[in-house]
Amino acid sequence: MVLALCYAAFAAVWIIAIDLLVDALASGTVAHTTKGLLFVAGTAIALYALLRRQASQEADQRAQPHLADERTEDRIALARAHRSSEEMRLLSRRLLNAQEQERRDIARQLHDQLGQTLTVARLLVESTLEQIEDRDVSGMLQEAMKALESGLKETRTLTGILRPPMLDDLGLVPTLRWLMDRSTAGAGIEVTLDLPPDPGALESEVDVAAYRIAQEAIGNALQHGAPERLFIRLRVRSRVLTLTIEDDGCGFDPAQVLDGAVPFGRSGLLGIRERARALGGAVRIRSLPGQGTVVRAILPRRPRGPTA
Ligand SMILES: Nc1ncnc2c1ncn2[C@@H]1O[C@H](COP(=O)(O)OP(=O)(O)OP(=O)(O)O)[C@@H](O)[C@H]1O
Ligand SMILES: [Mg+2]
Repeated sequence: MVLALCYAAFAAVWIIAIDLLVDALASGTVAHTTKGLLFVAGTAIALYALLRRQASQEADQRAQPHLADERTEDRIALARAHRSSEEMRLLSRRLLNAQEQERRDIARQLHDQLGQTLTVARLLVESTLEQIEDRDVSGMLQEAMKALESGLKETRTLTGILRPPMLDDLGLVPTLRWLMDRSTAGAGIEVTLDLPPDPGALESEVDVAAYRIAQEAIGNALQHGAPERLFIRLRVRSRVLTLTIEDDGCGFDPAQVLDGAVPFGRSGLLGIRERARALGGAVRIRSLPGQGTVVRAILPRRPRGPTA
């Protein structure tokens, strides 16, 4: 098949070339005869070269049959390696989805059960307080109110950390806005948001991955970088979503962290890389000591392969 294609390509080029050449140099029947002779000569040379090449390949295989076997074995090994890395990617995606599901369930329980119970208790204390005249009892009830309010606040914070309900209810853009506000409140950092007004419905898995990556990258910038400025940009195209988080903090050496040369237990950056890869995407981290950090995630909007 390859030989036939090579021959066809050669013949076509040859015919065109001699046509042009002979037309330029000769005319009439002389040109016709010259073309014919050149065509026969070209075909003979091409056939000779192809047959020689094939004969020498066959001779090689006869002399070293193990080479052909090795090539086949290499191909099988490569195919197996590719299959197992694809299996690892799907496994990792399933584990991350299971973890997210668990977080979402706990967050919902906290919000719907504990949150509701505390709200009802606070209302009861509040209405009792209005009817009580004894100053000592009233003082104790006010303390109880404060405790219930702080319990409610902590429940909301925990729910937000586990899985902000707005991610499922309102989508990625409002949640990123909320995350940035909440993370940088009172930190005196200049924040720039470059987010699309309405990116349309995204795959929930992609929303979650983008949110978790932003959460980790913003957390890292604030925790390790001491930046003056923080920048977040989201671009949503038909096939991919790109998320960039940039800070002008102290920077670091990403190769050292991602090659595992740092102490065990620092899993944030490895985790975001894993998240992106699980969906068939990638994360790029650019940073240099003293020159800030850019984390850029590229996520396909329709992740490859099954998850169930
Ligand atoms: N934006 C950043 N600015 C400066 N240093 C950073 C930044 N992001 C990461 N680093 C450095 O890379 C290291 C690894 O980050 P990584 O998120 O993997 O772990 P961690 O934040 O230390 O722990 P955790 O597992 O809680 O995330 C950090 O300890 C820090 O030294
Ligand atoms: Mg971290």
